[in-house]
Amino acid sequence: MALLELKNVCFSYDKQSPVIKDVSFEVQKGEYVAVIGHNGSGKSTIARLINALLKPESGSITVDGFSACDKKSVFEIRKRVGVVFQNPDNQMVASIVEDDVAFGPENLGVPRDEIAKRIDFALDAVGMQDFRKSAPERLSGGQKQRIAIAGVLALAPKIIILDESTAMLDPAGRKDVLRVVKKLNKEQGVTVIAITHYMEEVISADRVIVINDGTIETIGTPKEIFAKAKRLKEIGLELPTASYLANKLIEKGFRLPADVLSDEDLEEALCKL
Ligand SMILES: Nc1ncnc2c1ncn2[C@@H]1O[C@H](COP(=O)(O)OP(=O)(O)OP(=O)(O)O)[C@@H](O)[C@H]1O
Ligand SMILES: [Mg+2]
Repeated sequence: MALLELKNVCFSYDKQSPVIKDVSFEVQKGEYVAVIGHNGSGKSTIARLINALLKPESGSITVDGFSACDKKSVFEIRKRVGVVFQNPDNQMVASIVEDDVAFGPENLGVPRDEIAKRIDFALDAVGMQDFRKSAPERLSGGQKQRIAIAGVLALAPKIIILDESTAMLDPAGRKDVLRVVKKLNKEQGVTVIAITHYMEEVISADRVIVINDGTIETIGTPKEIFAKAKRLKEIGLELPTASYLANKLIEKGFRLPADVLSDEDLEEALCKL
């Protein structure tokens, strides 16, 4: 059984204009899935539905066997799904880093000694052990976001959803956070759903889900997705630079493969011309 399953999910905020329209997809344990789509296409709404912050109007969402539509399951779902949002400032609740990381597990009723272990593990994982007694407001944006991730890790979730979590960071901070998340995915088997518009984050995902206007446009590997360059542009999406250049060259009559993704792919294809 898939760890996460959405089946024919529909949702609207006002009961009139649907924002999520008949969305179905599955995510397997240990996968790293990127979600892309134009502004307002419904990505964050899907994240809130998975985390049971919103309830579908129709269809079903199952997390590790628990139905998000069942009120009694909400607690179990929150234990399994941790969401890191865009702005780390809105996610800090305590005046000392370690208290902030402890906040989530305390709310879930995790015993004291277990919480202490989780804080240790989480701060180690994000490389912020030295800052455990610091005041969050004195940290840089990248450091704050790492603490927000530590807070989610302390919940010991099976699924981490990153909703544009690196958008407020500089390129170095973004790399840092991604390295931490990749490591958790590879070494601990944590399932990652990364909502992002940074193409460098998308090309390294196992699979990509493309959302357009509240519906699933397509799902596939990064290579499969970016081979459909024309359609992606039509629905307001960017391409990785190498894909963009390869497609421009194909339009000019050069015989290049349609699935160029990385700079290395492009170089290899150009060498074969
Ligand atoms: N709390 C809300 N109340 C009413 N409408 C909302 C609310 N949040 C989002 N919407 C609307 O729902 C639609 C989907 O929004 P959502 O935030 O899920 O999109 P998104 O893909 O995450 O966009 P972005 O790329 O800008 O983050 C948009 O039309 C948005 O205006
Ligand atoms: Mg959003």
